[in-house]
Amino acid sequence: MKALQYDQPGGPEVLQYVDVDDPSPGARDVVVQVSATSLNHLDVVQRNGWFTMPGYTLPHIAGMDVVGTVVELGSEVDGVSVGDRVVVDPSLAEVPDGSALAGMGDLYGELGVIGATVPGGYAERCLAPASHVHRIPDSMDWHHAVCFPTAWMTAWHALFPVGRLAAGETMMVHAAGSGVSMAAIQLAKHAGATVLATAGTDDKCGKALALGADHVLNNRTGDVTGWAREVTQGAGVDMVFDHVGPALWAPSMFALAPRGRLVNCGNTTGDAATIPSLGFMFHMGIQILGSDPYRYGEFGEAWEVYCGGGFRAAVDSVFPLAGGADAHRKMERSDFFGKIVLEP
Ligand SMILES: NC(=O)c1ccc[n+]([C@@H]2O[C@H](COP(=O)([O-])OP(=O)(O)OC[C@H]3O[C@@H](n4cnc5c(N)ncnc54)[C@H](OP(=O)(O)O)[C@@H]3O)[C@@H](O)[C@H]2O)c1
Repeated sequence: MKALQYDQPGGPEVLQYVDVDDPSPGARDVVVQVSATSLNHLDVVQRNGWFTMPGYTLPHIAGMDVVGTVVELGSEVDGVSVGDRVVVDPSLAEVPDGSALAGMGDLYGELGVIGATVPGGYAERCLAPASHVHRIPDSMDWHHAVCFPTAWMTAWHALFPVGRLAAGETMMVHAAGSGVSMAAIQLAKHAGATVLATAGTDDKCGKALALGADHVLNNRTGDVTGWAREVTQGAGVDMVFDHVGPALWAPSMFALAPRGRLVNCGNTTGDAATIPSLGFMFHMGIQILGSDPYRYGEFGEAWEVYCGGGFRAAVDSVFPLAGGADAHRKMERSDFFGKIVLEP
């Protein structure tokens, strides 16, 4: 099969469209003919060699978001049929024995992730445990489905199991055009929260409003803390969902209401952040929460909500798989809003 693979870290040019062996299913696996995959921040970070997940090896085929048609079944698979249109849960927690991908489910150790530590969707075919595929409704197209796995699961876990976001609360999120924030804006609105979204350009702010955000601010030119306090009539926000890291850490914290939660799931602008005022933190009862990996059962639960409708996929652009290097360049320029899709 054809795949977009790289065997050394470097710029987008290391991505090579090459022939590789077809995946071979274990007894409890399926092979998916990939119809679409999409880019995530980790694809770029690992390709550059800036950070790699425990268990990552070279050569690597990225692509944590996989949707397609089941074309081959292992000998002990039931409940999945050849021809099923499926989305793949990339997190390899709770994979049963009999799958070629079993034994990688240590959530706080070397957690296996399709497209991050084992071959993913930047290919014509992808291996997945039968326990980790979910049917796509006939009415949902590939592009809508492929936006879900990484972006929506990251936002879902951070907002609800970790952040306990409730109806009537206020939630602020940065980098509104990123995949994760595009999902967070919509999930928070769906849950009945008021959403404050910030982004790096006025154009992205406009798109965030169209996606459902209640208030928007350009975070390069505006005063994030002052704006958040003004919009909440001085109260501050109940939650900040952050993955930008140090660049907006201090204004995020000072924007919080008493007992507000600062939930973090990423370090795009660096891995070290300073608490700007311990006095503010303890006096206001601020809680800083790390968003750990989502649990196996959460994927099906969140997928059902997504299939219930009312969400926008926010696809920015579509590239052929062979043109994946250009897609990576676009992501590195931050020249996108939502998801960049690749089609094998
Ligand atoms: N913990 C997990 O399981 C998990 C899973 C998925 C993703 N993540 C993390 O979540 C983050 C987002 O992932 P993604 O794939 O959605 O990323 P993405 O689409 O690549 O978006 C990253 C965004 O960061 C913003 N940004 C960059 N530099 C900035 C700066 N100096 N100030 C403010 N904003 C800046 C940019 O938005 P603007 O153009 O608006 O500035 C850019 O769109 C990443 O850190 C990723 O590693 C974590």
